[in-house]
Amino acid sequence: MYSQQFPYSVAIKKDEEIYICQCGKTAKSPLCDGSHKQTDGVRPLIFTAEKDQSLTLCGCGKSADIPWCDGSHNR
Ligand code: FES
Repeated sequence: MYSQQFPYSVAIKKDEEIYICQCGKTAKSPLCDGSHKQTDGVRPLIFTAEKDQSLTLCGCGKSADIPWCDGSHNR
């Protein structure tokens, strides 16, 4: 999942629900593809948008606020 040195940008509409991968096994980074079913208890983060927005999700794995990018990829 954390295979790049820059964030993912995910556009999401108001009231849309997305499943963000937390297990690292997805083939559809950064979103869940159901692969967590092979892991013990790791579940996706369910996020519901309160407005139309663009999410900035960590692609490098260095963020202190996973799954969100905190700028650590610049260091
Ligand atoms: S992409 Fe990982 S901190 Fe920004």
